[in-house]
Amino acid sequence: MSPDDLFRRYQELQRYVGWTDDDAGRVRGMASILEPCLTDLIEDFYEEIQRHPQALQVITGGAAQIERLKGTLRGWLRELLHGPYDKEYVARRWRVGRRHVEIGLDQVYTNVALSRLRRGLLKAHEQLWLGDPQEALATRRALNLLLDLDLAMIEDAYQAEYLAWRLALAKERSDAAFRTLVEAAPCMIVILRQDHSILYFSPFAERLTGYKSAEVLGKDYLSMFMDEPGVREDVRRDIGRVKEGLPSLGFENPIRCKDGSRRHMAWNRQRLPDYEGGLAVLSVGQDVTSLIDAQQKALQAERLAAIGQMMAGLAHESGNALARSQACLEMLAMEVQDRPEAIELIERTQKAQDHLQQLYEEVRSYAAPFKLELEDWDVALIWRQAWENLVVRRQGRDAQIHEECQDVDRRCAIDPFRLEQVFRNILDNSLSACLDPLRITICCTSAALAGRPALRISILDNGPGLNPEQARRIFEPFFTTKTKGTGLGMAIARRIIDAHSGQIAVGTATEPGSQGAGAGPDGTASSKRGAEIVIILPRQAA
Ligand code: HEM
Repeated sequence: MSPDDLFRRYQELQRYVGWTDDDAGRVRGMASILEPCLTDLIEDFYEEIQRHPQALQVITGGAAQIERLKGTLRGWLRELLHGPYDKEYVARRWRVGRRHVEIGLDQVYTNVALSRLRRGLLKAHEQLWLGDPQEALATRRALNLLLDLDLAMIEDAYQAEYLAWRLALAKERSDAAFRTLVEAAPCMIVILRQDHSILYFSPFAERLTGYKSAEVLGKDYLSMFMDEPGVREDVRRDIGRVKEGLPSLGFENPIRCKDGSRRHMAWNRQRLPDYEGGLAVLSVGQDVTSLIDAQQKALQAERLAAIGQMMAGLAHESGNALARSQACLEMLAMEVQDRPEAIELIERTQKAQDHLQQLYEEVRSYAAPFKLELEDWDVALIWRQAWENLVVRRQGRDAQIHEECQDVDRRCAIDPFRLEQVFRNILDNSLSACLDPLRITICCTSAALAGRPALRISILDNGPGLNPEQARRIFEPFFTTKTKGTGLGMAIARRIIDAHSGQIAVGTATEPGSQGAGAGPDGTASSKRGAEIVIILPRQAA
């Protein structure tokens, strides 16, 4: 309550008990009579307190505090007797009740202490009053009224403060219970305001996303964690329904973590009608990424097993057929060795046959199960080897790799044979897609993947880049833009990187409207937009 409100309340209570200016004058008249007795009354006040352990326990400062309190009580008594009973007086009286709540004093002791003080004051007045007995009665009645008013104010303050204190304590306890529950739960817990700004971000959410609570509080949840507009809209709609009072169960959507990785979450959402002074939405998310991965892998494995089986049969049959055809070609070559045009035709047939063989090999290697042999390697050695092995493809081409990763530790636990296949397929794509001069920039930076140290490798060419359709489908099996090939190169690359617990994706330099940084011969960025593939590999095996 404000001092003005308090004073208004005091004036109302004065009217209630019939307090007048004459009463004030009478009490003031007592002051000089009672002054010599105050010391005894104060001594008695504190002696009595010391006989009551329950009351005494709030005096934690011992004799020194009691001495100080005696001074306080003397001031309080003098003010009582002298007035004026103005706004400041009332505010100070109110403060006594508040202070007693703060120190945990039971109000009962204030009541009985005042009763004792009242008796002492009245008795002293009786003994020392020498005037008119009628006036003595009126004066003592005035003092009683004044003490009643004082007690009423102390009591009022006490009740208001006590209630506020109990409410604060209850809130503190329920907050503490909420925090313990929320902080121990292995779930991502987020509380959002109506406008989707983040009010609360649980410790598990911090660990899962890599963001500290302080980084996200007050920020827009949707733009922070959802980068796909479609997903953002779906989540906005779900939250909208929850705000209207319909709880949401098991709503699934991916979220983007600080390191760019994605987690797949299943959410339960509930409306909080009054959280920290307003409507809020509580979202409790379960990380179902591994579950979904496992489901997808099982599905993929099933599909691959079917392809593998079919390919094994096909390869066996065609292997025999190819061997027969090869033998015939060799015999034919001997028959027509004096006819150069026929020899050339045989060579072309031979090449077509080799190509067929290679296609079989690719499909087989995509479908066949494999086990990684992980070793600690500098990945630059691997892409250099892959580039070396493409020497025939590069013949007669003006093609160069430019490396931008001198100061970065490039070591990772990888299977060198498999990773070389990944680089070979990516570099081979650039050789097919780009005109000369082909410049490929490989750039490494340290990164984190699911909270673990990782290496990010960007491979960017200066070719025509990928259109949105290509960027979306590049890792799908049998998707190709080339006239030759199976369309399995990038699907194989993804399979190998997945097996390393890494990630492979089309980089943002490929997005329409962005400027790729395909380096020119002198290492400077060319303005041409190219295709960027980004690989993130964990530094150590999971
Ligand atoms: C007629 C009854 C009482 C009156 C008029 C009274 C008056 C006061 C006043 C004026 C204050 C200072 C408030 C401020 O900080 O602004 C105070 C504080 C205090 N009172 Fe009382 N009191 C009474 C009863 C009691 C009783 C029964 C106890 C029991 C031990 C007690 C213990 C204390 C203590 C410990 C403090 C805090 C002092 C400090 O801050 O060191 N009071 N009281």
